[in-house]
Amino acid sequence: MVWDHEVGSSNLPAPTRPTNPDTGGPSCARIPCMDQEIPLKIAESRAEYGSFKDSLRAPVHRWFMYPAGYSYKLVESKIAQHRLDSNSTVLDPFVGCGTTCIVAKQMGVNSIGIEAHPFVHWVAKVKLRWDYDLRELSAAIDEVVLTASLSPRDGSIERISNGEFPELVTKCFSAGNLARLLVIRRTIEDARLSGDIKDFLKLALTHTLRTASSAGTGWPYIAPGKYHGKTVERDALKEFRNQTKVMFQDIQELRRKAGPTLAREQLILGDARAEHPEIPRGRIDLVVTSPPYLNNYDYADRTRLETYFFGVAHSWREISDSVRARLIMSATTQISRSRYDGNGLLCDDIRAASDRVYGELREKTAALSKLRLEKGGKKSYDILVAGYFNDMFQVLRRVYDALAPGANFILVLGDSAPYGVYIPTDFYIGQLALGIGFKAFQVEQLRRRGEKWAGNPQRHTVPLRESIVTITR
Ligand SMILES: C[S@@+](CC[C@H](N)C(=O)[O-])C[C@H]1O[C@@H](n2cnc3c(N)ncnc32)[C@H](O)[C@@H]1O
Repeated sequence: MVWDHEVGSSNLPAPTRPTNPDTGGPSCARIPCMDQEIPLKIAESRAEYGSFKDSLRAPVHRWFMYPAGYSYKLVESKIAQHRLDSNSTVLDPFVGCGTTCIVAKQMGVNSIGIEAHPFVHWVAKVKLRWDYDLRELSAAIDEVVLTASLSPRDGSIERISNGEFPELVTKCFSAGNLARLLVIRRTIEDARLSGDIKDFLKLALTHTLRTASSAGTGWPYIAPGKYHGKTVERDALKEFRNQTKVMFQDIQELRRKAGPTLAREQLILGDARAEHPEIPRGRIDLVVTSPPYLNNYDYADRTRLETYFFGVAHSWREISDSVRARLIMSATTQISRSRYDGNGLLCDDIRAASDRVYGELREKTAALSKLRLEKGGKKSYDILVAGYFNDMFQVLRRVYDALAPGANFILVLGDSAPYGVYIPTDFYIGQLALGIGFKAFQVEQLRRRGEKWAGNPQRHTVPLRESIVTITR
């Protein structure tokens, strides 16, 4: 079941009875929505659309394991459903490691992606380059693997013990394996190869950091000191060689399947809230995206191992300045409480767009301001919630300007309940969109979320969902 809303219609879907109210059933859940209980049917076949599971096994998508990524199948189905072709353009304002643009390119559709995290943007760029001279690439892989295997590690071990890397990196590997990784890095840096090929090899090495680690560097990120020890450490050089092989074969396969395409992709390193001259106003045919959820996930922290290893950043502070500060508000680690006076957390534009959403958010942020004082962590969820909607409001406006009349803006979104205060993100975003001038929106539940923490007594018991919101311009 899908909930439809149009301008002028009642704000809330009429509650209907779930087929199995006792069990909630595998396909039906009772969900509090804008403070009411409503039943929503779960689209089981698409339950994994919001996760990276499918993409982890798919050519090219699998070059970087991005836990925040979504399924390439979602993008395929939306592009097909909207019958886009080589004259169409799809936009993803939060393109992450490039899923939307990769699928668009495979399907011969033009695309534009925006990503604010420099490292993740670089990953997307490398994943979108398939026009290598394959002989040259193959020779380069062989040369780097051979040179790295012959290079002594003593110098690297010395550099590591002299503090070449922050502690987080040294905790993830044995000294020998880390030295091997460093040797591979330096071999790539010193090789006489084109920048494109070096990037390809660097991405293979980035992937190797996770597979060769002896620590539980799984997802979501785990704070240093809390690593679960893995039993076996995998040899870095072997892992690197395997990964280059996988990537090489993926390119061969893609080129065989997709053939030459005239589709163009543009990747913008920038802010989805800002105006970009590369994006033609009123001409985008479809927007498919998954913005950060309001769930306190710190994207900058997720890539700490990679950015430290490549020397892009050396400390939490540096990452805050170069990454955290650029992202929309979605984690309390982005907040410096002393900058806020506690009043007027929500911007007036939100009030102008929807009195109802503004009122509810004001009440909820005020409740969170009080609740935090009773909690050990004293998390600034009040500022987080307000900041999230202030930021997303700006994105809604940019997308409104970019979309062609009648075109759709599709978001995969999670709702949230910080300190147990329920925030129906999907419905709020939909309502705000109507306030901006969009014609209608629909919410479709994909799956329930947060059940893996059900046994944690510290955690709230509010049922959460992941949904697809489709907003029509
Ligand atoms: C949920 S992830 C999207 C992942 C993407 N669908 C994929 O498959 O890789 C959200 C992304 O938004 C990025 N982001 C956060 N704030 C941003 C901003 N202001 N402008 C553009 N991108 C931003 C984050 O770095 C993150 O990569």
